[in-house]
Amino acid sequence: EAVGKGEYPHFMLKEIHEQPTSLAQAIEGRLDVERDEVYLGSFPPGRFEDIDRIQFVACGTSYHAALYGSIAMNRSGLQTSVHLANEYSVCAPPVDERTLVIAVTQSGETADTLGAMRRAAAGGARILTVTNVIGSTAARNADDVLLIRAGPEIGVAATKTFSAQAVMLLLLAQRLADDIVGEAAVGGDSMLADIRALPERFEGVLEDGTAKTLAESYLESQSFFFIGRGLGYPVALEGALKFKEITYEHAEGFASGELKHGPLALVTPDTPVFAIFTGQEDEKVLANAEEAHTRGAPVIAVCHEGHPATDIADGHLEIPDVDSSLAGLLANVQLQLLSYHAADRLGRPIDKPRNLAKSVTVE
Ligand code: G6P
Repeated sequence: EAVGKGEYPHFMLKEIHEQPTSLAQAIEGRLDVERDEVYLGSFPPGRFEDIDRIQFVACGTSYHAALYGSIAMNRSGLQTSVHLANEYSVCAPPVDERTLVIAVTQSGETADTLGAMRRAAAGGARILTVTNVIGSTAARNADDVLLIRAGPEIGVAATKTFSAQAVMLLLLAQRLADDIVGEAAVGGDSMLADIRALPERFEGVLEDGTAKTLAESYLESQSFFFIGRGLGYPVALEGALKFKEITYEHAEGFASGELKHGPLALVTPDTPVFAIFTGQEDEKVLANAEEAHTRGAPVIAVCHEGHPATDIADGHLEIPDVDSSLAGLLANVQLQLLSYHAADRLGRPIDKPRNLAKSVTVE
């Protein structure tokens, strides 16, 4: 392989640690904090003003990034929906020329996602792809391309491309809201300064060794649950996906409010619950985590220092106290490290998990 592992034992660990650089590359030249402006290559202001609804299509980790982007866009007043690309062909919502379909795909070659793009294009929708690969099939077939510039990713489990996708979708949310909703509806403080500081925030989390110790403490558990709310929900799904992919242990992600509607029946002292706190409705996530704690489950709070969740939690994965639109991405770094170290202790083939492929070109 042209790309080496360098000082790292696995590509996955290298790629987790590359995130400060890949994020800096992703945002370079694309934001002007002083003017509160986002510049996205070929998308001049007004390019999307005739769009009235947005649909995301994606698979796997890219689906979780799409869900993250969709929630952020809803917060900005945009009307969005998010679809698994492989379900889109059987239950596609209506599209027309005022529909923007955003296909999120690292490789740009996932057959399910390419199929959803074809179907949407046939219905007259405009297609934009958010991808890592220039010249990929998705990039060639789309009307517009937004490159995430994360650099090559070799590990089958996506890591640095997830954070780059999510950040590009936050920037795109601002571009689309400016065009479609206008300034009045966007509201809230700009997060561009926080996005510019994100690579440094990632550095800080990457220096923390707690995830490794925690991974070892809970290795004998029966199942691993991840819960979050709002932008913490896609991070819970991604945390669980990463964990099951590379450790082969059973892991599930839930919206924290759904725990009481079924999954709570599975909770025992043998099922650690990782609760993600982004700063939005944290008191509700905490109440949900407490329900699990009461049933004997160890609770590990992914939150900033001094957060009320640390009073009840059995463990703590720390993140900096940042804007709620970005906290989940830092929590995700802690969960990437957790999965990596658990899989490493179990001796799994981390970069090439059994039965999985980096890019799936069949439907
Ligand atoms: C495969 C990979 C996943 C990836 C998914 C979507 O299943 O193992 O890591 O998230 O494909 O890939 P894409 O290239 O479309 O993002």
